[in-house]
Amino acid sequence: MSQRTALITGASAGIGATFARFLAAEGYNLLLVARREERLRELAQELTAAHGIRCDVFAADLTDPAAPAAIIDFADRQGLTIDFLVNNAGLSGKSKFVDAPWKELAGEIQLMITAVTELAHRVAPGMKARGWGRIINLSSIAAFAPPGESLLYTGIKSYVLNISQSLDMELKPYGVHVTALCPGFTWSEFHDVMGTRDTTNKFPDFLWQQPEEVVKEGYEAVMKGKPFCVPGKVNKAIAASMRPVPESVRYLLGKTFNPFK
Ligand SMILES: NC(=O)c1ccc[n+]([C@@H]2O[C@H](COP(=O)([O-])OP(=O)(O)OC[C@H]3O[C@@H](n4cnc5c(N)ncnc54)[C@H](OP(=O)(O)O)[C@@H]3O)[C@@H](O)[C@H]2O)c1
Repeated sequence: MSQRTALITGASAGIGATFARFLAAEGYNLLLVARREERLRELAQELTAAHGIRCDVFAADLTDPAAPAAIIDFADRQGLTIDFLVNNAGLSGKSKFVDAPWKELAGEIQLMITAVTELAHRVAPGMKARGWGRIINLSSIAAFAPPGESLLYTGIKSYVLNISQSLDMELKPYGVHVTALCPGFTWSEFHDVMGTRDTTNKFPDFLWQQPEEVVKEGYEAVMKGKPFCVPGKVNKAIAASMRPVPESVRYLLGKTFNPFK
């Protein structure tokens, strides 16, 4: 494969770090982003040595509205062309809505809605012009689930599922595939950060996936041009049971009967 470059946000842990290992093994050069720069540098060193790829790192806090522009500016200065974007960085707060400071809620929205949308908007024109691009946006099985009390998370991930399909409809004719990847419970640091590890540790094994399984299925989905992917049989069954109209039919309906096109 030609030396394509993938930008991965949230590459310092969990699913993002797993995407970095997977895409490096596939021969992609990488630009890794997260706040914990030391972890990114260690991973970059590991992947450069193992696969002979180029791996740049850029430390950024994606709750900062200036971060997406700074990341792309860094890529431009390094001469990196972004062919593959994995919008992965994310977390879930769990405070009561009225008790959470606005700064915390605004940070969640900036991190998982605005930054995700802005990064896609900044890289998609180049992908379209070159006739090839891949964007994976991390949604969640939560997007199919009923809203969780006090959580912005289910609403945020529903937005990501929805907008990914809209972008896919617009960009697929130009060789750019966009996929919303919607994992269920996945082993990572997510529940440690959320403070829910004690509760989730009691969940049965069959509900959990390793990040490697999620990443492989997500990668295959975006390469095949699937607009969304719920990885794993159990998660697929859970997601299907939540929606009377299957998501694939909703996508077709949305694509076919849009009077505003
Ligand atoms: N694990 C699950 O069960 C699960 C299920 C469905 C969906 N997801 C989604 O999958 C994605 C990855 O989650 P994960 O499970 O891999 O969690 P994780 O292990 O906690 O990793 C989260 C990543 O996001 C980065 N991040 C968090 N806040 C950031 C910020 N303000 N600026 C920049 N980077 C930030 C973290 O890096 P730093 O802390 O170094 O900044 C870390 O690299 C998330 O979008 C999550 O919503 C996870």
